[in-house]
Amino acid sequence: MKKVILTLSFALLTILSFAQTPAYKNVKLSDEARIADLISRMTVEEKVGQLNQVNGGVLTGPSVANHLGAQGKVQLLKDGMVGSFLNVVGTEQTLATQKMAVEQTRLGIPLLFAFDVIHGYKTVFPIPLAEGASWDLVAAERATEIAAKEASSAGLHWTFAPMMDVSREPRWGRVMEGSGEDPYLQARFAEARVKGFQGNLDENHVLATVKHFAAYGAAEAGREYNTVDMSRYALYNYYLPPYKAAVEAGAATVMNSFNIYDGVPSSASDFLVNKVLRGQWGFDGMVVSDWASFGEMIAHGYSKDAEEAAIQSIMAGSDMDMESGVMRTTMVKSVKDGKVPMAVLDTAVKRVLKLKFQLGLFDNPYKYHDAAKEKATLLAPEHLAEARKSAANTMTLLKNDKGVLPLSNPQNILVLGHLAESQDDVLDFWKGQGEHKNTVTILEGVKLKYPNSEITFISAVNREGAFDPASAKEIKKAAKKADVILATIGLFGDLAGEARSLSNLSPSDGQMEMLANAKASGKPVVVLVQAGRPMVMTEVVKNYNTILYTWIGGTQHGNGVADVLSGDVNPSAKTVMSFPVSVGQIPVYYNHYNTGRPHEDGNEGPAHFWVSRYRDIPNEPLFPFGYGLSYSTYDYSDLSLSKSVINQNESVTVSVKIKNTSDVDGVEIVQMYIRDVVSQPLRPVKELKDFARVLIKAGETKTVTFELPATKLSFFDQNGDVLLQKGAFKIFVGTNSRDVLEVDLELN
Ligand code: BGC
Repeated sequence: MKKVILTLSFALLTILSFAQTPAYKNVKLSDEARIADLISRMTVEEKVGQLNQVNGGVLTGPSVANHLGAQGKVQLLKDGMVGSFLNVVGTEQTLATQKMAVEQTRLGIPLLFAFDVIHGYKTVFPIPLAEGASWDLVAAERATEIAAKEASSAGLHWTFAPMMDVSREPRWGRVMEGSGEDPYLQARFAEARVKGFQGNLDENHVLATVKHFAAYGAAEAGREYNTVDMSRYALYNYYLPPYKAAVEAGAATVMNSFNIYDGVPSSASDFLVNKVLRGQWGFDGMVVSDWASFGEMIAHGYSKDAEEAAIQSIMAGSDMDMESGVMRTTMVKSVKDGKVPMAVLDTAVKRVLKLKFQLGLFDNPYKYHDAAKEKATLLAPEHLAEARKSAANTMTLLKNDKGVLPLSNPQNILVLGHLAESQDDVLDFWKGQGEHKNTVTILEGVKLKYPNSEITFISAVNREGAFDPASAKEIKKAAKKADVILATIGLFGDLAGEARSLSNLSPSDGQMEMLANAKASGKPVVVLVQAGRPMVMTEVVKNYNTILYTWIGGTQHGNGVADVLSGDVNPSAKTVMSFPVSVGQIPVYYNHYNTGRPHEDGNEGPAHFWVSRYRDIPNEPLFPFGYGLSYSTYDYSDLSLSKSVINQNESVTVSVKIKNTSDVDGVEIVQMYIRDVVSQPLRPVKELKDFARVLIKAGETKTVTFELPATKLSFFDQNGDVLLQKGAFKIFVGTNSRDVLEVDLELN
């Protein structure tokens, strides 16, 4: 009898406790039902708390909320006033913080941990601009997959990448984060990177953020945080497509940009967020501010105070406040006063909660915090191998006039320049958790590649680029024995990234002096440029025959450089930003309009006076978009179309013959462009529409084909509607945006 009573009461207890389990914790219910239940239990304070993202680690912006101190932030968390932390990394810290959220807050809502995993977490890949130059979407997807694997093993759920700001501005330090000046190519990278980061959103992946929405790459004069002002036509056609592609690829979140557009800060732009992003593109995910960008609307002069800034942001469709605190400090009152409808607040909160449910955090909040997994994942040998391949893939050969490269078995190598041996400069500002001590410099890479050669290193210039006159003699002496001189110039690593705008993009006088000393020896000089943006290379190009642009290659930089110098990897990369002749030429980009008075460089005389040109420099850039050499040489011929007239629902096959005229196998990046000859509104002189990375064996001729559907001839009008216009088009195929074959196509 006693036993029966005991069993009964146990059963009753189970039923009761089950009945008491809130629906939001019930795994069997749909996410929607669980979210609805949770929202119904939340106070206004707890709701607002979910919209609050707090910095918990190194500063990646001005210290807006630091007065709170660590204790203050813990208190905020325990009060349910934090929905997400940024910059808290590593399983140990994230686990401890997550425990507080789950076990010490009233509703136990887990946190989202976010971090800028831009081009790798611990294993750092080449900067995205360099990766762009590889035109290798498969490699980009793999790199982001690895970055996601490492980041998620270290407790992170969410990266603030990919950055998809098209930019024509090498003065802007952040060009390193994107894929250059072309909207089509950048859009393809958007898809690859979103896919790589997010995968199936399991615990080996992270949520992606497409940023900075919108058009941040067009900040005036390349000055960080500066104004953007452009037509809607330009916005829709040249700046929005990569963000759109990322959204269509399923990017979970979108970040507002710092800039204004049409006189309105992006964070509060009803046009950008509600109309374009949510309306035209149907994005129903979460929009996070950029660092303090909600609060900065006061400095912009758009909001009179924090309360107004928070209201303007949420009413425009933005959700989470990174670091500015305006949501946290004012939104409860605004909702209670009826200035913000509860439904608007609920919608924003739901978007945050949805991500947490999607990741399964309510059911297993600690699944990202496994220290053993973290240890086994970071810097795994296969990650390093992939990073090395990527680095080699991004090396852009700008000049090889005398065929000095590849180096055939040099016995004695002289390496010059501080950058060649500086581990500090192989990584940029956005290095994730990459550590300098784990990087391979150029000097190290060359030593590993040529273990039997005698290698001499002379720093000659310091980090700031000043030449040490004492090294002139040393160079002279060492050069006597050398078969080749590898001279490294460029910018130190930390000059690539946010808040690093520059007005002078030339190598320093000291670096030029070092090069001159090397040249005076009469030995072959290979100029290696290490920088996170296109520099002004005019003087170097004039005076030196061999130039390899190495960008900033991450953890395996030096090995990547050595693989290309030795010829173990035949370079194939092509720049995705035009290289300016001088700073005065910026912005210079390939997809410009023709003007009413076009000019071709080289045309002189009275007939070429009243034309659109400079009097002191050419119009064309030093190296055009899509430019890069290889140890192979290629001959393009026989560009043809399967038909010369197509209808709007048809497509045409474009074919071209390419012969590898060298004795080395090579990968050629074949580029197809179009021009809409007569159009209202008018179109640029060239627009990239497709490309292919094609392996062509030595001596082989390959026919490369592109399927060009008529839809690719379309563009956007100023309202974002698609226009497809009948008429004449030119189709170009070539090895870069300048050197192309062309053929005519008619759209009916
Ligand atoms: C940058 C963002 C970055 C954020 C968080 C901001 O200053 O503009 O790109 O994701 O900081 O670190």
